[in-house]
Amino acid sequence: MKVLGISGSPTKNSNTDTLIKTILEATGAETEFFKLSDIKVVPCIACMKCVSTNECILNDDFKWLSKKVMEADAIVVGSSTFYGAASAFTKAFIERLYSKRHVKLLTGGKIAATVAVGVAAEKMVAEWLGNALRAGGMEIVGSMTAKGTPCCFVCGPGESCHYTVWNAYSKELTGMDFGVGEAYKEYLEILPDNKPYAHGSARFLKSYRSVKDEPSVMAEAERIGKLIKERIKSRN
Ligand SMILES: Cc1cc2nc3c(=O)[nH]c(=O)nc-3n(C[C@H](O)[C@H](O)[C@H](O)COP(=O)(O)O)c2cc1C
Repeated sequence: MKVLGISGSPTKNSNTDTLIKTILEATGAETEFFKLSDIKVVPCIACMKCVSTNECILNDDFKWLSKKVMEADAIVVGSSTFYGAASAFTKAFIERLYSKRHVKLLTGGKIAATVAVGVAAEKMVAEWLGNALRAGGMEIVGSMTAKGTPCCFVCGPGESCHYTVWNAYSKELTGMDFGVGEAYKEYLEILPDNKPYAHGSARFLKSYRSVKDEPSVMAEAERIGKLIKERIKSRN
């Protein structure tokens, strides 16, 4: 039983990495974990050379990584949320999986789970990632999201910046309620004089958010790992 974890988060030991690794461990299977930022997987160039061969002609680490995807009983793919979307590392990997779809749908039936971590828009990433893997015929047995550390906590001017992520995702600017203030209430106090894109005013109560401090989030990762284990067993 082999389960492969692929992280599209470029941050070392990130929350995305932690959740993927927790899922892998809970499967009790033989596992491998790769960070796309540590290897080279470039975007699809739409040459369509893979149409008849199901092999991508681009010469980079996707060559061996795709073999591992094909050999695995299940894969766990995770991404950070960048500009309301998956990271470019994740996007490039998903695009390259296109080579396995043509005619034969080689990834059809593969068991998969997804992880998305962000400040406000991680659900959008989770939805996209699930749909992308489903398009490859994969069966998504679990999908989870978690809140991570806003870069604004660590960049320096975060407390007084007009353009912080919570201001960028504010109701005033987007017309939507991403609930950032509520989701980060133990971490961040947005002060009454804060005005998105005009005047930044906040106070950091904690400057790092780790999923390891959130038992319900870690329990969800373990639950997904166990689901993968059961699903693989029921197939064999
Ligand atoms: C370039 C960049 C863009 C970002 N854009 C968004 C965004 O649009 N929405 C969001 O929710 N978080 C955004 N973030 C915040 C990250 O999603 C957040 O830091 C998250 O914790 C990353 O997960 P990771 O640490 O597991 O990689 C952005 C971060 C970076 C570096």
